[in-house]
Amino acid sequence: MKVLKTRIETQNYAKSHEIGLVPTMGALHDGHLSLIKRAKKDNEVCAASIFVNPIQFNNPEDLEKYPRTLEKDLDLLEKTGCDMVFVPSVEEMYPEPVALKMDFGPLERVLEGAFRPGHFNGVGIVVSKLFHMIKPQRAYFGLKDLQQCAIINRMVKDLNFGIDLVFCDTVRAEDGLALSSRNARLSTEDRAKAPFLYSTLQAGQELLLEGKSPEEVKTEIQKMFNNRSEFELEYYEIVDFENLQNISTYDPQVKTAIVLAAHLGGVRLIDNILW
Ligand code: PAJ
Repeated sequence: MKVLKTRIETQNYAKSHEIGLVPTMGALHDGHLSLIKRAKKDNEVCAASIFVNPIQFNNPEDLEKYPRTLEKDLDLLEKTGCDMVFVPSVEEMYPEPVALKMDFGPLERVLEGAFRPGHFNGVGIVVSKLFHMIKPQRAYFGLKDLQQCAIINRMVKDLNFGIDLVFCDTVRAEDGLALSSRNARLSTEDRAKAPFLYSTLQAGQELLLEGKSPEEVKTEIQKMFNNRSEFELEYYEIVDFENLQNISTYDPQVKTAIVLAAHLGGVRLIDNILW
């Protein structure tokens, strides 16, 4: 596996290969590795990037505490069959401050975007830079970050990147918790409680399918959270997958998602269910 640290090396490498790219921030787990395996299967060359992107963190403490496990990550990537990994420094990625601001309109006024101002500008900028440097044919993203998928899909269309996007299912632990690099920051006690979040998504889906309205479902779910004071719920929304806007009535013909964010023991977790 080639480990490249500079734009020049990466651009040269990109000239002669058909690449499937998996952008990451490291602290890799089986969720990331499922994307690597898929990219490996679909492409001549499977490439990853590891870069903790400072401009997508609206909370300095979250950036500082973000887990960094580079040696282990490189080992996992190599074992999973990754061919090239781009590991730039902050200076390499941002030799000059970026003046451009990306605004995704209504798509980013909701959910994560509403609670993390500037987050999707940072994601859009860094993913654009990676796309230009690595020039992949295909790029792989996890549906765990549902809004991120929607934003990047919009960006690739709006700016004619000509890259095929592949969105992959969320990988979960056996107890249902969505794998996340942030899970490593949960105490043993909190880690045992965390699957509650997925159970609220399953319960919400069941209630909708039974014929409850989205409003009624949200009231029921709020009751579930009232008994679990260790969780601080930020949002729990039932949305149309196409535009991420809230729905007022459930239509089985419409691709629907339930999306949530909650704090547990100082760690912010997100999850969703899509059908
Ligand atoms: P990161 O959180 O490291 O995630 C990298 C990719 O792995 C994303 O596409 C994310 O959706 C996917 N992923 C994370 N957990 C997953 C799980 N449990 N199952 C399936 N896929 C999962 O997302 C980012 O980094 C950054 O915002 C990035 C796109 C790299 C831009 O900086």
